[in-house]
Amino acid sequence: MAPSSPFNPMSAQARAISHLFTITLAWGAFILLLVLTLVVYCAIRFRDRGEPGYPKQAFGKPKLEVAWTVAPLTLLAGLFVLTVGAIHASDPPKPARQPDLQVIAHQWWWEIRYPHSGAVAANEIHIPAGQPMLTQLNSADVVHNFWVPQLGPKKDMVPGYSNLIWLRADRPGIYMGACSEYCGAGHGWMRIHVFADPPQVFEAWLAHQLARAPAPAPNVEQGARLFARSTCVNCHAIAGTKGKADVGPDLTHFASRTTIATGVLQNTRRNVYQWLQDPQQYKPGAYMPNFHFDQTQLEAMTAYLETMQ
Ligand code: CUA
Repeated sequence: MAPSSPFNPMSAQARAISHLFTITLAWGAFILLLVLTLVVYCAIRFRDRGEPGYPKQAFGKPKLEVAWTVAPLTLLAGLFVLTVGAIHASDPPKPARQPDLQVIAHQWWWEIRYPHSGAVAANEIHIPAGQPMLTQLNSADVVHNFWVPQLGPKKDMVPGYSNLIWLRADRPGIYMGACSEYCGAGHGWMRIHVFADPPQVFEAWLAHQLARAPAPAPNVEQGARLFARSTCVNCHAIAGTKGKADVGPDLTHFASRTTIATGVLQNTRRNVYQWLQDPQQYKPGAYMPNFHFDQTQLEAMTAYLETMQ
C-alpha cells in the first residue's frame, strides 16, 4: 500500500472516509455479483430449447416487485445515513478562535504560518503528532485544494474566503498530499509534505523557525550580496534582511527543508544549483525566473542558501 494511500488512514477524519468507501465498495461488489449471477442463471435456465411457439408469458409478481423496490431503497437509505455520518466525522465542527496553523496556497507553492508564535515556513508543514491543529486554508490567487489523503478530507482554498479543517496525525511520520484542484501550469507540482513530529521535536522545530538567520559567514557573503542585489528580494523573504516579500517562499530556513520547488527536487547542493540555473526546466510555468547567473554566481548563491539552516 502506497505510504500516502487514503486506504491507510492516520486520523479519525480520514478513517471515517476510508470506512465509508470500503462499505460502499463492498455493497457495490455484492450487488454486481448478485446481478451477474442472476443474468447468467436466467440465460442458461430460460435459454431457447427449440420448442415451438412463444414461451409462457408471465404478468405481475407483486411480491417480487415490492422486494426489488424496497431492497435498493433500504440499501440507499442506509448508505445515505452512513454518508451523512462520515461527512460529520471527517469534518468535525470548528470553534470560533484563532487557528493554530494557516496554509495559504499560491501558484505553485504553499505558504505556512503559525499564528500563535508568528513562525513562517513554506511547503513542508510540521504539526505535533496526536494533536489536532485548527487549520485555516486560504488562497493568494486562484482556487486550489488542500488534500492529504491519510489525514482527512479535501478542502477548497478560495481567494478572499477562509475554510477551516482539523489537521491531525495519530502517529509521527511524513504524510504526502497534493493540490487537488487544477490551478494552472504548476498544479502537478504542488506537493504537500506534512511532518507529524513528536511534540517535543515539533516545539524545537517551531522555536528554530522563529530564530533569525545568522549573519552570512564570510565564505558565503558573496551569495548574500547577490541575493540582496538581484531581484530575489522582490519575491522572497529572509528574516533579518531587507527581503520581506511573500510572492515566493520564505527562505529564512531554506536549508532545513528536505525538498525544494514544492517537492520537485530533493534539497541537495547540486539540485539547488541546477534549479537556480534554470527553474523552468524542473517546473514549467514556475514564476521563478531564470536569472542567467554565471557559474561563479550560481555557486555563490547555492553556498549561501545551503547555510540557511
Ligand atoms: Cu494548486 Cu492545483
